[in-house]
Amino acid sequence: MDNQEALEQIAAEVKQCDRCVLHLSRKKAVPGDGNAHAQIMFIGEGPGFHENEQGLPFVGAAGKFLEELLASINLRREDVFITNVVKCRPPSNRDPLPDELAACDDYLERQIHIINPKIIVTLGRYSMAKFLPNAKISVVHGKPKWVNGRLIVPMYHPAAALHQGSLKPQVEADFKRLPELIAMAEHPPQPNKLESMPASSATMLELPQFSTLQAMKEDLEPFEEKHSQSDSATQLTLF
Ligand code: URA
Ligand code: SF4
Repeated sequence: MDNQEALEQIAAEVKQCDRCVLHLSRKKAVPGDGNAHAQIMFIGEGPGFHENEQGLPFVGAAGKFLEELLASINLRREDVFITNVVKCRPPSNRDPLPDELAACDDYLERQIHIINPKIIVTLGRYSMAKFLPNAKISVVHGKPKWVNGRLIVPMYHPAAALHQGSLKPQVEADFKRLPELIAMAEHPPQPNKLESMPASSATMLELPQFSTLQAMKEDLEPFEEKHSQSDSATQLTLF
């Protein structure tokens, strides 16, 4: 079975799924859409009104903005894979509940395994929490982190940026850095090398901004200083 067929198999299961109560109120399930060999995968929260009508992710206002953001780095939605942490619309767009997230997670895990993207961009709180359970989006947005050998880049949800205009430039700036991060994702840290490095070098690899070690070193001090004063939890997780 090739990637496309494997994704179609998952989509067929999702469309019939009754693992959680969201199946009762859905019109169309929204398994996900895009390139079965994508280098970048975007994971949002859950289908909204328009997605529930059409069975496709990010086709409403947030989707239009997402397409503009993709265009700003010369990508179209056909180049990437877009999905959500829950595949059926929560009634009135309420937040997904823990048991719904848990019930749906297996589909997402299988999609990630099949596509094997270089980068996963999380859009919003719930997809961020899957990979970075204690992170605060206002602190970590746009900053890549290796999680289980894959580069995770948390971003504000496009809908949040539409509701709160001041976030828009940040989302745009975070997107502009994605091509650079794809290049960085070509070189995941080797686990055995990481172990043999002093802790400070290992954490440097997780710092977001720069592709060369020298640039990382130059930036380490001001970065730590800034965060150690403002937020000790941040310093511990070394974002
Ligand atoms: N918001 C999401 O999180 N996902 C969608 O598919 C659409 C809007
Ligand atoms: Fe199944 Fe996920 Fe839909 Fe719940 S949200 S019914 S687990 S596909």
